[in-house]
Amino acid sequence: MARDKKLIIGNWKMNLNMHEASLYVHQLAKLVKNHRDVEVVLAPTALTLQSLSLQINYRQFKLAAQNFYWRDMGAYTGEISAAQLNGIVQYGLVGHSERRHVFNESDKDIRAKVQAAIRNNLRPVLCIGETAFERSEGETAAVLHDQLIGGLANVTSEELKEVVIAYEPVWAIGSGKNALPDDVSQAVRAIRSQIKHLYGAKSAEEIQVLYGGSVTADSAKAYLDLPDVDGLLVGGASLDAHAFSEIVKKAHKGSSLANK
Ligand code: PGA
Repeated sequence: MARDKKLIIGNWKMNLNMHEASLYVHQLAKLVKNHRDVEVVLAPTALTLQSLSLQINYRQFKLAAQNFYWRDMGAYTGEISAAQLNGIVQYGLVGHSERRHVFNESDKDIRAKVQAAIRNNLRPVLCIGETAFERSEGETAAVLHDQLIGGLANVTSEELKEVVIAYEPVWAIGSGKNALPDDVSQAVRAIRSQIKHLYGAKSAEEIQVLYGGSVTADSAKAYLDLPDVDGLLVGGASLDAHAFSEIVKKAHKGSSLANK
């Protein structure tokens, strides 16, 4: 997907049951207009993916898996594979900070999941970001560097075209403390410069990089206006159909006057 299109992903995390999810999507479908310059992606719990895939219009919304296992099939009780998600979702979150920190996912797991997503035609959204401690130690750029290398180790430059990077500082996620646009800009520039180092200038220019962390309908525009930022990964605010549809509106280019 070219960078002239903004990508807005709503990560519902472990919220909304089947009934609530269906009602929500029904409501959201009425609020969100199709814009050629915005791709709207919903990442509900795995349980609801199949039924929502039948309910949504794929021209209006795409679906993302919040998580999946890196093997395609076999004796892995409780897991869902990217191969099984193929045809239902178009994206897969990989390495979200809650996966890294609550479920102890390592760079090795994350790398294998990026590969599994690519192998099964899902676009991996590789989430990277520093903790508050790492930030206070001045290690932000080093952490981003290590997580990029860790996640992308086996990805070719052809495959990189399918990869989305989400810069999500851990301290900003679910905390209400969203990062300052200047800091986001600096981090996203560091990410692009690392991609340039690994894959060359063209890839660095073309890769889509999102920001995520306590984004609200009020703060969204400041990030979307940053030239290096191609969209948003929204958690809490995506659970409110009105707030989320406002964020989508702000991602649409012609919207700046309408939203003032
Ligand atoms: P938040 O979550 O918007 O609630 O901070 C973002 C995320 O976890 O992707």
